[in-house]
Amino acid sequence: MFRTLDTADLRDKRVLLRVDLNVPMENGKVTDATRIARVAPTITEIADKGGKVIILAHFGRPKGRDEKDSLRPVANALSHVLKRHVDFAADCIGPEAKTAVDAMKPGDILVLENTRFHKEEEKNDPAFVQALAALGDIFVNDAFSAAHRAHASTEGLARKLPAYAGRTMQAELDALTRALVAPAKPVIAIVGGAKVSTKIDLLENLVGRVDALVIGGGMANTFLHAQGVKIGKSLAERDLADTARRIMDKAEAAKCAIILPVDAIVAFHFEANAPSQAYGLDAIPADGMILDLGPLSVERVNHAIDDARTLLWNGPLGAFELPPFDRGTVAAARHAAERTKAGKLVSIAGGGDTVAALNHAKVADDFSYISTAGGAFLEFCEGKPLPGVEVLRVK
Ligand code: 3PG
Ligand code: MG
Repeated sequence: MFRTLDTADLRDKRVLLRVDLNVPMENGKVTDATRIARVAPTITEIADKGGKVIILAHFGRPKGRDEKDSLRPVANALSHVLKRHVDFAADCIGPEAKTAVDAMKPGDILVLENTRFHKEEEKNDPAFVQALAALGDIFVNDAFSAAHRAHASTEGLARKLPAYAGRTMQAELDALTRALVAPAKPVIAIVGGAKVSTKIDLLENLVGRVDALVIGGGMANTFLHAQGVKIGKSLAERDLADTARRIMDKAEAAKCAIILPVDAIVAFHFEANAPSQAYGLDAIPADGMILDLGPLSVERVNHAIDDARTLLWNGPLGAFELPPFDRGTVAAARHAAERTKAGKLVSIAGGGDTVAALNHAKVADDFSYISTAGGAFLEFCEGKPLPGVEVLRVK
């Protein structure tokens, strides 16, 4: 249980609002404003209820003050999305921040400079927490995607001030609860991406929770190799064969079906439009590379989706950034989107490359929920407590 904006008294209050504005930027311009759009409703709700919205956020991973990681251009992008005036202060604590906050009227919106310009932020330093807390009356955290960090603005502040979950935080927690904590069964997970090594904890947790686990992408090659399949020159972590076998044993003990590719699209160069062909697993050429699911595998994945009522998706199933090796990912994503639109499936996706892959498949609006969180989504799905979420729980 979390306190939400439903019960917050916001009128005339100085509301310290933590959001995730860590958006992709090129040459000073925001190239994908999804995260900004996600937090916009929380900002306008607080402003429209008469709160003074004081926005805290990090950007990049600066070591101390570094103008290339300034939030100023992001504050401009936020103003465009909100279609409202947004002020900016060049520090998140101290006289500059205080002067800007003191000048605010109810409904005003102010962005404070990158919290990570102070090294105390990542240390969750008590004096820094106090300096932030002095600027506000209440704290709202809408940055689920930064909630795996126990930083001053994600964790420390929630101990100092009355703390609430913002609307995006609420939506993320609702979606992840529907996927993993109290899902409609059967549950299927689809996990792809290049490497097993980054997803061991995820796979180990999922096999104990879901009814079927589809493994695709480069990481599937490691599992195939562990089963004795000759995978040619495919990307794989051959030293993790024991880990892969352990995960498969664990799945068997937990009655979780592991669904691996049964055929593959193989090319001889890792590049877009490289000549390619489908092969059975007993016939992968020694100098070939598996770059996508084969047609029989896609059919199998789609059948597995048909058998499920809940789907959790993380990671692409092939080298989706190189056409035509995006086909397996796109086909499975579209199938999941159809099942969702038909009311047969709750589909939740998130983490790393997943949003890009699902945008590419043009299904982003048809899934039940797509998280913009990377590391936080993974850690939640690994079964780990997120400090920024735990601190918001009503005891
Ligand atoms: C993200 O981009 O995933 C979040 O903003 C967290 O950023 P971090 O990994 O630098 O803490
Ligand atoms: Mg990041």
